[in-house]
Amino acid sequence: MMKLIITGGAGFIGSHVVRRFVTKYPEYEIINLDCLTYAGNLANLKDIQGASNYRFVKGDITNGSFINDLFREELPDGVIHLAAESHVDRSITDPTAFVMTNVIGTVNLLNAAREFWKGDYAKKRFYHVSTDEVYGALGETGMFTEVTAYDPHSPYSASKASSDHFVRAYHDTYGIDVVISNCSNNYGSHHFPEKLIPLAINNIKNNKPVPVYGKGENVRDWLWVEDHARAIDVIFHEAKTGETYNIGGHNEWKNIDLIHLLCSIMDQKLGREPGSSAKLITYVTDRAGHDLRYAIDSTKLQQNLGWTPSLQFEEGLAKTVEWYLENEEWLNNVTSGNYKSYYETQYTDR
Ligand code: NAD
Ligand code: TYD
Repeated sequence: MMKLIITGGAGFIGSHVVRRFVTKYPEYEIINLDCLTYAGNLANLKDIQGASNYRFVKGDITNGSFINDLFREELPDGVIHLAAESHVDRSITDPTAFVMTNVIGTVNLLNAAREFWKGDYAKKRFYHVSTDEVYGALGETGMFTEVTAYDPHSPYSASKASSDHFVRAYHDTYGIDVVISNCSNNYGSHHFPEKLIPLAINNIKNNKPVPVYGKGENVRDWLWVEDHARAIDVIFHEAKTGETYNIGGHNEWKNIDLIHLLCSIMDQKLGREPGSSAKLITYVTDRAGHDLRYAIDSTKLQQNLGWTPSLQFEEGLAKTVEWYLENEEWLNNVTSGNYKSYYETQYTDR
């Protein structure tokens, strides 16, 4: 029996990780710790919310005494930490929220691990889920490896870089068993429609302009979210203590090329005239400090732990579009804000 706290489990990637662990490891007890910000949506986990090895705990990782109480009561065997403020554009508007959750929140969890796992550090594991954005921006060539120097540019990536440093410092200083992974851009179901792919799907569906920042020449390396969850599973169970793994899809796309591909898939799925969705593409003012290119070298993960991405991008993107079109209610609830009442109706009456 292993008891795990997964933080941020109501979010995009967290919900896929929670679902994977709850269904694949019925012998584990999974606690989803999430404070349900605008990005947290328990409807993402509707299918497994009644599972006997799953529990949701509503709580904020910025609250150190709450985190200590939770550790004292639950004495978890491990933490998989995904809770974060995750949107670069929001970090440009309000950096402090990113410092609070991504830095202070992570340190609160580490402090609880340090205190309540004392004497047992070798048997407990703190897995910190991070991003490739900590490495900064690439030019036309090259890839991020696990030894690339940190060079974050946005308040989001600076806060994630800071949290990575704290996680390593608690390993080096106190001997806590930590692992870190840095992943490229994810796509797939249950993605909040403020990020490029779900935002574009929603806008194309509703015949609204599709905003492309700058000239659309920035490059991202896209990975299907379930492949990320699979990587987290294998790293959590098999990585050596203190190790870092890069996770990526070897799948680089210029934003504008990706949007054109998405437009053609949407034309097809919606039965529209070829070329009609592309007419919605609208170039808008560039993001401040916009990183030009991200590309991940995941050789270490592939060679050491045998992980490889399972899905080609064209297939994954088509599957993703289908999911959004088939889950209109989810999308409408998220865009209207109605999803916020889901917690009240499902959880507070118990
Ligand atoms: P998300 O924004 O969809 O979800 C974040 C979740 O964290 C939400 O459920 C939210 O309610 C919760 N949360 C936020 N602040 C909290 C707090 N103070 N206390 C408790 N819960 C809180 O994010 P995501 O895209 O699923 O990303 C998850 C993790 O993966 C993050 O750490 C992010 O940095 C990392 N990551 C994301 C991507 C990506 O492409 N989305 C890529 C690489 C790494
Ligand atoms: P995003 O999904 O916000 O992820 P990140 O900034 O973490 O990479 O953005 C992906 C890329 O798409 C990034 O280069 C910014 C760009 N972008 C647009 O062109 N238009 C949009 O409306 C959004 C949200 C992003």
